[in-house]
Amino acid sequence: MNPVEDLDSLVGHARVLVCCGSGGVGKTTTGAALALEAATRGRRAVVVTIDPAKRLADTLGIGSLTNTPSRIAGEWPGELWALMLDTKSTFDDLVLAHAADDDQARRILGNRFYRNISGALSGTQEYMAGEKLYELHEGGDFDLVVVDTPPTRNALDFIGASRRLTNFLDHRLYRMLMSPTRAYLRAVNLAAQAFVRTVSKVVGSEVLDDALAFFRAFEGMEEGFRERAARVEALLADEGTAFILVAAPRADAVTEASFFTTKLEESKISVAALIVNRMHPRLGTGRAEADRARAQRFAGTDLGTLYANLADLRTVADGEEAHLTELAANVAPAPVVRVPFLDHDVHDLDSLARISEHLFRS
Ligand SMILES: Nc1ncnc2c1ncn2[C@@H]1O[C@H](COP(=O)(O)OP(=O)(O)O)[C@@H](O)[C@H]1O
Ligand SMILES: [Mg+2]
Repeated sequence: MNPVEDLDSLVGHARVLVCCGSGGVGKTTTGAALALEAATRGRRAVVVTIDPAKRLADTLGIGSLTNTPSRIAGEWPGELWALMLDTKSTFDDLVLAHAADDDQARRILGNRFYRNISGALSGTQEYMAGEKLYELHEGGDFDLVVVDTPPTRNALDFIGASRRLTNFLDHRLYRMLMSPTRAYLRAVNLAAQAFVRTVSKVVGSEVLDDALAFFRAFEGMEEGFRERAARVEALLADEGTAFILVAAPRADAVTEASFFTTKLEESKISVAALIVNRMHPRLGTGRAEADRARAQRFAGTDLGTLYANLADLRTVADGEEAHLTELAANVAPAPVVRVPFLDHDVHDLDSLARISEHLFRS
């Protein structure tokens, strides 16, 4: 994506928007506002959330979200859909799609080892987020897919997640486990044997047998998975995909934001736009020091208190402006959009529309 394209044109043309940033900055809110704006412009938009707090469902005024898109009713020419990523069901669907036949699918889905790892394995959530994104994009039902990344520092791991899984499939240990006979174990080096003995001591030989059965059942599906992983990665690097960094105008946010920018750069991805959320208002053009002096002059009176409050507000706004300048320098030449601190939480479509107003029409 052209890094100098503004948010307005991104929401009109991009096929995939990924909202990233640290926890609590407003990724879920922003993601939903972007999808709502796209629907307002006649596009068919879906927002995918990985938020375990189910906040998006509340904001959109629906009781719950599932792993398949729910349509949000509203007065817009396009369509607005939302779904909440369910890691395990997404993994199951992937197995079903790649299994040679029902029997292979059944053996994998019913395997105890698979059932334990499919939802819990670290990196699985990131991998399935990429997988879901690809599925929605390819399905042809949507013009725009907006993804809200997990509330952790590892959020961007989903960029390389599918490659890491396929690397694992190439791993020697995996190949060894795949071997149909235990006799093969004698042929591999002592370290690997020791490893398998240790694993079976720690997790129990039953678990190890489950794992072996799982890897054998998986046989023949690696190619499909590997091919798919390459396509997910290509989609994330595609020019129709844009990464939007959401940040708070605070000192710690500047550090966090540069962490995200660096992580993206490692994958040769640049931030397409920066949204600085929850900015305090700037009242007029006065300076904090002048108001502070007036507060002292009128100390003890109501006027003095008002000037003191005004001085405080100006100090906050000045600080935020300085942080914003630093943030902007970090992502330059990407455009920067400000969203003010609203007087209440964003928990319904009306307040979501107010966020869109600030993003696109102020
Ligand atoms: N501009 C804003 N003004 C007021 N409240 C906001 C604003 N943006 C987000 N919020 C509120 O802040 C909280 C965290 O936002 P959320 O989008 O869930 O963050 P994240 O997904 O990054 O963790 C939510 O309760 C949301 O309603
Ligand atoms: Mg969130």
